[in-house]
Amino acid sequence: MDRIVIEGGHRLIGEIDVSGSKNAALPLMVASLLTEEPVILRGMPDLVDIKTTRTLLSSLGVEVSGDRDMTFRASNLDSMEAPYDLVRKMRASILVLGPLVSRFGSAKVSLPGGCAIGVRPINLHLAGLKAMGVDINLEHGYVIANGKPGGAKIVLDFPTVGGTENLLMAATLADGTTVIENAAREPEIVELANLLNAMGARIEGAGSEIITIDGVPELHGADWNLMPDRIETGTLMAAAAITRGNVLLKGARAADLESVVRKLIDAGITVEQEQDGVRISCADRPRSVDVRTAPYPGFPTDMQAQIMALMATSMGTAVISETIFENRFMHVPELRRLGAQVQIEGRSAVVRGIELLSGATVMATDLRASASLVIAGLAASGTTIVRRVYHLDRGYERIEQKLADLGAQIKREEE
Ligand code: UD1
Repeated sequence: MDRIVIEGGHRLIGEIDVSGSKNAALPLMVASLLTEEPVILRGMPDLVDIKTTRTLLSSLGVEVSGDRDMTFRASNLDSMEAPYDLVRKMRASILVLGPLVSRFGSAKVSLPGGCAIGVRPINLHLAGLKAMGVDINLEHGYVIANGKPGGAKIVLDFPTVGGTENLLMAATLADGTTVIENAAREPEIVELANLLNAMGARIEGAGSEIITIDGVPELHGADWNLMPDRIETGTLMAAAAITRGNVLLKGARAADLESVVRKLIDAGITVEQEQDGVRISCADRPRSVDVRTAPYPGFPTDMQAQIMALMATSMGTAVISETIFENRFMHVPELRRLGAQVQIEGRSAVVRGIELLSGATVMATDLRASASLVIAGLAASGTTIVRRVYHLDRGYERIEQKLADLGAQIKREEE
């Protein structure tokens, strides 16, 4: 198992490329199940979750080739089943349900379990499919779906990202028109809808609360450039700010993370969209700002841990509230090991900024928690060792290399 070793106190200066979006790539890869023609996705990040999705699609019989630019061809499928072993590794595997029933009228997908950050049910995905006339049964830990979906009006109880993606894909080949109300509005939803439209789907309203999908008889192939990763962008912004750095994030789109940019500006940090990307610079110690996570366009839960690391060294007190996942403060005890002054009060964390964190050995518990510990380590005095970095590898491409290129003293080593 690898660990990351950081000598804190070095400013991040320079330019770095932002990778393709993990959370957009996963549904886009899965969307290839909707057509027998090749779907080409360009600019894919090299991440464990991408490999897991590739393995899952291959196990269904999709021919996958390429690396940075990947081609998926789902002309002859051997199986309609997503087994427990793969779904266990990555919850987003549940996304194969929508496209498989839409194109083939049957699917069998292992029920994802909970994970460290919460229970994470899929009841809204299933209720939506049922409303579309798909027969859903739960047997021996599997969701068994039968029947081609038909058009329906679906009102989501909560704007679930994965649920909206699953239903969007299910509706593309459905017989009739589907309206999804209270749909998730994340940029990754817009990206998926745009790809599906490029494949011949008829989707309107993605990015708003109401998405309308006119079912079409079939989809064709497409050639697509993946959008930049807005959470990697935000993570690198927090890293630059905590070291009082000056970094150009090449290829980044500030418009995809306005709520994060607004908070950073409130904290006294400079963020500007330039032609090549987004520049962030921070000369003085940031001011504390309160943050409340919410569905897009609110502050992303996937940036909560990283902003907390930044607030740990800011001037003043910040209240950080988590409203999306019930157990997403696992980084708090680890940040406290680095000297951060954080108290949890129910679903909020009260962070009293201190001038300097102090390096220690800490344990990564999930993807974004790991990122927050790396960020904190960049600004801590002495050495910080982050253990269990495999979490980091699920969602950040060569993170230690990128940070080292910007001047951080950081390396990966075997435990
Ligand atoms: C996606 C992202 C994840 C991000 C999350 C919230 C991917 C691969 N993952 O996850 O990084 O943290 O959005 O922005 O894109 N819920 C239900 N019933 C359901 C579905 C969800 O109650 O059927 C609840 C969940 O338990 C959670 C909340 O809704 O409390 C948000 O979940 P959701 O938006 O579905 O997140 P994911 O799609 O799993």
